[in-house]
Amino acid sequence: MELEEFRRHGHEVIDWMVDYLENIEDYPVMSQVAPGAVADQLPDSPPSRGEPFERIMADFQSIIVPGMTHWQNPSFFAYFPANSSPPSVLAEMLTATMGAQCMVWQTSPAAAELEERVMEWLRDMIGLPRGFAGVIQDSASTSTLCSLLTARERVSNYSTNQDGLTGGDDITAYCSTETHSSIEKGIRIAGIGSDNLRRVPVDGNYAMVPDDLETAIEDDKAAGRTPACVVATIGTTGSTAIDPLKSIGDICSEHGVWLHVDAALAGTALLLPEFRWMIEGIENVDSFVFNPHKWMFTNFDCSAYFVRDPEALIRTFQISPEYLKTGQDRHVKNYRDWGVQLGRRFRALKLWFVIRSYGVEGLRGMVREHIRLAGKLSERIESCEDFELMAPVPLNTICFRYRPPGVEGEELNAVNADLLERLNRTGRLYLTHTKLGGKFILRLVVGQTYVERRHVESAWDLIVDTARSGR
Ligand SMILES: Cc1ncc(COP(=O)(O)O)c(C=O)c1O
Repeated sequence: MELEEFRRHGHEVIDWMVDYLENIEDYPVMSQVAPGAVADQLPDSPPSRGEPFERIMADFQSIIVPGMTHWQNPSFFAYFPANSSPPSVLAEMLTATMGAQCMVWQTSPAAAELEERVMEWLRDMIGLPRGFAGVIQDSASTSTLCSLLTARERVSNYSTNQDGLTGGDDITAYCSTETHSSIEKGIRIAGIGSDNLRRVPVDGNYAMVPDDLETAIEDDKAAGRTPACVVATIGTTGSTAIDPLKSIGDICSEHGVWLHVDAALAGTALLLPEFRWMIEGIENVDSFVFNPHKWMFTNFDCSAYFVRDPEALIRTFQISPEYLKTGQDRHVKNYRDWGVQLGRRFRALKLWFVIRSYGVEGLRGMVREHIRLAGKLSERIESCEDFELMAPVPLNTICFRYRPPGVEGEELNAVNADLLERLNRTGRLYLTHTKLGGKFILRLVVGQTYVERRHVESAWDLIVDTARSGR
């Protein structure tokens, strides 16, 4: 593609992007295509000669777009959001155009220094202590893996990277029964093994019970094992339960165990001073992750990972072959040593664009509004006789179910599973589910960039009508 063609198509693509967002509510939120329908429209082999951009773009619109679930539709209430915003998208276009690979300072000094500065901003914005240093990872899963590996190294006096795991079942880690699956994945990759991950019970609010954590650590110590890491969650995926950080931190500090906090979604709520109670006890935390790519209007991927002791992280990951050495190594941050991957995208740019475009107050206003809308809806659900709230709503995630009179147990689970299916087939909203205490529960998360009160209200009207008319 010649550069002048690129200019012309670039303008067309921007027009398409703006039209898409202007008309986003006309698209079914959850893609309605059947399995295989997209693949059936794709040729078995690639074209041997280049095709005109117009044809590629036409296929994008006719084949790809219908096969997409529209995460930027304001009636997307599923999972946790992966929200985006115009300044973030514009920054991504610049990042892609410059195409820099930002593995070490020298390969793009601005990328390294901007990353350092925006992570300091972000740390201050969410009220983490000044002692924390930050690095952008691709995902919370990777950030948590980094913390597990660092904890494993620290507890083995930095010998495991060299010697390999020698004891098998020696090292143990702890999380609650409500913890995200990425913790177990990290435990497996770190070689600690799923059987050595203790699932600490939760209380009636689905938060970790600190006494049970302490007992588990003491039992392991008594059996000659080495507790390495506790993962506490601020905002569990199921119901945004908040583990009691203060008590957990006291236990970790007493037993010399690494404490990692997974605040993938809820970290964004820490922008609001009134939610800082969630990190009371942060003084005992070793590492902390939250995803601006979930709720902070920065498109995927952008995961903010903070550590209290960057030297421990660097000791865990640093390998310095000759071809990566530069003259500045002693004076600069080389983020290749701060995580798994060597090659790094320039992710700080979109974060910088977002923070500067909205300003801290602008971001706070949007997040506060989401939490307010979720609170209003949960009040409505509570006042409905045939619906019930299934967990507290501290933030923006509402767990509820339809409960028609006389229906219980598995039949009730089936009624709600069927309701979910019928709702998502309408294409007018998208919800997902979880199970809490064996009960099938619908989750509605208010966190999409463009969501307004009218979307939440019409979602609720649709839920009520669909539930009551379906049986
Ligand atoms: C609490 C929690 N932790 C971790 C993750 C994984 O996030 P990522 O997709 O960035 O790895 C999620 C995803 O929703 C989550 O809810």
